[in-house]
Order: sequence, then C-alpha cells, then structure tokens
Amino acid sequence: MEKDLSNHRKNYQKDELLEKNTPDNPIELFRDWFLMADESENVHEANAMNLATIGLDNFPKNRIVLLKKYTWEGFIFYTNYNSEKGKAISKNPNVCLSFFWHGLERQIIIKGRAEKIAKNLSDGYFETRPDGSKLGAWASDQSDVVKSRAELDAKLRNYENKFRESEIPRPKHWGGFIVKPISIEFWQGRPNRMHDRIRYSLQKDFNWKKERLAP
Ligand SMILES: Cc1cc2nc3c(=O)[nH]c(=O)nc-3n(C[C@H](O)[C@H](O)[C@H](O)COP(=O)(O)O)c2cc1C
Repeated sequence: MEKDLSNHRKNYQKDELLEKNTPDNPIELFRDWFLMADESENVHEANAMNLATIGLDNFPKNRIVLLKKYTWEGFIFYTNYNSEKGKAISKNPNVCLSFFWHGLERQIIIKGRAEKIAKNLSDGYFETRPDGSKLGAWASDQSDVVKSRAELDAKLRNYENKFRESEIPRPKHWGGFIVKPISIEFWQGRPNRMHDRIRYSLQKDFNWKKERLAP
C-alpha cells in the first residue's frame, strides 16, 4: 500500500511573532497564547497537550493529557502514578510538553522536569471531578494489560458498590504532576516556511534568555 502526501501543504499567514512583542517571562506569553486559543472557535480542547517521556525501555513515548492548571512555577496535569508515564517519570523526570493549535498556526514546546504535586492539591482537584471519573480512577490500573472490556466494566461496578454509601476518596496512586520548565519555544507559522520561533531558556540566575531560532 502506498499513499503519496507530498502535496499536502499549507501556507501559514495568520500572525507573526516579533521580539519586540514578547515579554521577558515566557509564562506571560504562554498565558496570552493560551487565552487566545481557549477563546478561539478554531481550537478544540486548547488544554490538550502532548506529553513525551523517556520510558523504562529507553524509548520516547508521546500521549495526550489535559493541562489542568498553569502557574509561574509550571504546568499541571493529572494521571495514574503507576501508569507507563508515571513509571517513566519516576525513573527520568525530564519530559517535553507540546501544544499545536492548528487554528492559530501556533505550536509551543516546553522542556522541563516533572514532579508530583502536594497530596492536598491532588485531593482538592480530585474532589472537583464527577463521581464517574472518580470511580474510573479506582477501576483502571492505567496501562496494565486487561483481559477484556467485561473485566474492566466489572471492576467499575465493584467500586460503584464499594463507594455507594460513602465519599469516593482519591486513590493514592492517582494525582498531579507539575512540569517545571527549563525551556519554552513559541512557534508561529509564517508564509514560505519562514516561521517565527522564539525560544526562552532558564538561566542559573532564574532569568530567561530569549533567542530566535531559524525555522
Ligand atoms: C484528549 C485526551 C485527553 C486525555 N487526558 C488525559 C489526562 O489528563 N490524564 C491521563 O492520564 N490520560 C489522559 N488521556 C489518555 C492518555 O493519552 C493515555 O492514553 C493514558 O494516560 C495512558 O498513557 P500511558 O500508558 O503512556 O501512561 C487523554 C487522551 C486524550 C486523547
């Protein structure tokens, strides 16, 4: 089978990214771009981001997770700490997050170190989740092999019964990670593949160095 995609090509021309319009702190630029993406009708799930980890098998692996909070410190998502990604992070906390907002012709790539957030913060977020999602966190040993869909559904029913009369607590193996950035690259598509790329790198004195990269 063969399918030639050599003429799948788009010209980007919606915006530009010039140094004079960039703040000293990349989190401010992230906030501006995120708010625009979140409000844009051309972007669905602006907070869906790609998370790349280096696995125990030494291969990189990408998957989508949802950004649930960002602060001056970093970017927070929630997951099962025993999942493939959870195990990968506990061995090697160096990760990469990326967003591609096609409707805005923008990409952001964040390299950083992931660490577990405080338990009380994970508790606070877990409480806001609908009961169905809370039960799902109990029923799914995320990334483990399961025999069948029926086995999974049966596990969910067990937990529904178990917690029928009580509050559903957060499983200890489920919680947040914060990715503390060491570099953040902003990419704005431009005509003729002459895209704008501005990369911020964290310096020893905690200031950010700003550089333009060739497209
Ligand atoms: C739009 C979207 C959002 C997702 N959000 C999350 C999330 O916030 N947390 C999570 O653990 N998995 C989320 N997933 C599922 C992950 O992509 C992945 O399948 C799962 O976390 C297991 O990954 P792992 O086996 O590499 O650990 C999401 C998937 C999609 C497509």
